[in-house]
Amino acid sequence: MQNATKLTTVATLAEGESFLFTVRERDGSEEEALVVHTADCVAAWLNFCQHETDQRLDRGTGAAIRDGEIICPKHGSMFDGCSGYCDNGKAADSTLVEVDVAVDDGTVYLTDDDYTFLHEGGIDDDDDMPSSSSHLSF
Ligand code: FES
Repeated sequence: MQNATKLTTVATLAEGESFLFTVRERDGSEEEALVVHTADCVAAWLNFCQHETDQRLDRGTGAAIRDGEIICPKHGSMFDGCSGYCDNGKAADSTLVEVDVAVDDGTVYLTDDDYTFLHEGGIDDDDDMPSSSSHLSF
């Protein structure tokens, strides 16, 4: 698949699990997104709830997914993993922001021209950031 970034594989992302990654949007800002694998689909969404947009669906340990629905960890609204739509709770009648992905021969690719893949994991998981202060002296 040309001009698409490999994210993960269907074999490594078990049904009911999610894959967190960070993208750059067209305006230059960074955003988290997650691929979800349900019984009916593989889909990807920006990693925030539609009720409170500072609420992450995956806080870095994997999103809660049950019966094909992504469960917001704050108030428990459930979003359909394939359509992104929520018909319950505080986020009722809202839809997650979709990120286009495609599955080709078992590999999941980012195909959305609005987003550029930066790295696996959340924004704070960037390996380029200094993780040690060992150069400091006292
Ligand atoms: S923050 Fe997600 S349902 Fe309230």
